[in-house]
Amino acid sequence: MLPSGVTYAERFNGISGSAIRAIFKVLTKPGIISFAGGNPSNDALPNEVCAELSREALLSDGKRILQYGATEGYPPFLESLLAYLRQNYRFPVEKENVLPLSGSTQGIDLLCKAFTNPGDTVLVESPTFLGNMQTLRIYQQHLVPVESDEQGVLLGALENTVKQTHPKLLYIIPTFQNPTGRTLASERREPIARMAEKYGFLAVEDDPYRDLRYAGAFLPPIKEYDHSDHVVYMGSFSKIISPGMRLGYMVANADIIAKCAIGKQSSDLHTSNLTQAMVDLYLRRGLLAPHIAEILPGYRDKLNAMLSELETFPEGTRYTRPEGGLFIFVAMPEGFNAGDVFKDAVERGVAYVPGTSFYPEGGHENTLRLNFSNSTLAQIHTGMGILRELFTSKLS
Ligand SMILES: Cc1ncc(COP(=O)(O)O)c(C=O)c1O
Repeated sequence: MLPSGVTYAERFNGISGSAIRAIFKVLTKPGIISFAGGNPSNDALPNEVCAELSREALLSDGKRILQYGATEGYPPFLESLLAYLRQNYRFPVEKENVLPLSGSTQGIDLLCKAFTNPGDTVLVESPTFLGNMQTLRIYQQHLVPVESDEQGVLLGALENTVKQTHPKLLYIIPTFQNPTGRTLASERREPIARMAEKYGFLAVEDDPYRDLRYAGAFLPPIKEYDHSDHVVYMGSFSKIISPGMRLGYMVANADIIAKCAIGKQSSDLHTSNLTQAMVDLYLRRGLLAPHIAEILPGYRDKLNAMLSELETFPEGTRYTRPEGGLFIFVAMPEGFNAGDVFKDAVERGVAYVPGTSFYPEGGHENTLRLNFSNSTLAQIHTGMGILRELFTSKLS
């Protein structure tokens, strides 16, 4: 209850806490097997290395790290970030093209702040990442879903929707998408950059899962086809080093970066210097590539274990078969309601996220998202066994 006379801002009309955060509250049950969150595995978090790096950073540059820093970033981190980007991507990038973010989540917030007015249209995949959908809603954006298939958004549908709705932004997760795990086909990437240029909107490419690839070849990000500065690329160290450090980055045209930096000043002034200093050393020492190589096999085994369990699910169960990332998206036969069954699943000790919350238009109650990274192989087998039995009973 609010104190008397106090009212919420209009922009919060219809905004409730994230469904996933609400689900986390149910997960206090001891021993619960959670396929719900999107956390990396605890085994993949390099706490000992980070302890050493933070000590080293504070001993060598502690006064600067503990002081206020620049919104544009901690200078040594900017250097190592640029080197990392140049080594791994083929888009040109200079210091004025990057902005460190307190998690890439901050990127969409800053872009909304700088580029959108209430009632503007933003095109999104359907389903899409709940967290950023929430941000778009807080900025009172009109979310319009774009039709997709197994290979991501359909170009014809995208172009028609663009012509009809004149969007400010397209928000897209091309690789190992959250929640589906699917990847935008290689041949659909360049046309999206061209469309953004032709029709004059920003394509916001959110790419936190790129490096978690367990099969197949790397695909160029849409940003690599961008010759007109219409693509904003967002990367994150959350899934490959640590989400708790809250470090991501935006790559864009210098004017876009400068405006977002002004917006960032009123959000958090700057991203934690210590976090930037630790990741700077992580990159400088060449620790990232071996760390990723070390964590991939465990994730691959977990993905495969979950996929093989899904093979034994009731007839009519459909699911994505991702080549990377952290999620599998499941569609049970029509009539099944993943939200209704959720309580029974939790009572039996297993949690997932009902898929409906990821759809801007709602519906799709027969769908659910499963995360495999944050459970052990044994938990995957046990938990999926419980779900199979429960789902089968609900369908009969
Ligand atoms: C598509 C997508 N974007 C961004 C994020 C958040 O990244 P960060 O921790 O860098 O804010 C997530 C995390 O789940 C995500 O799935």
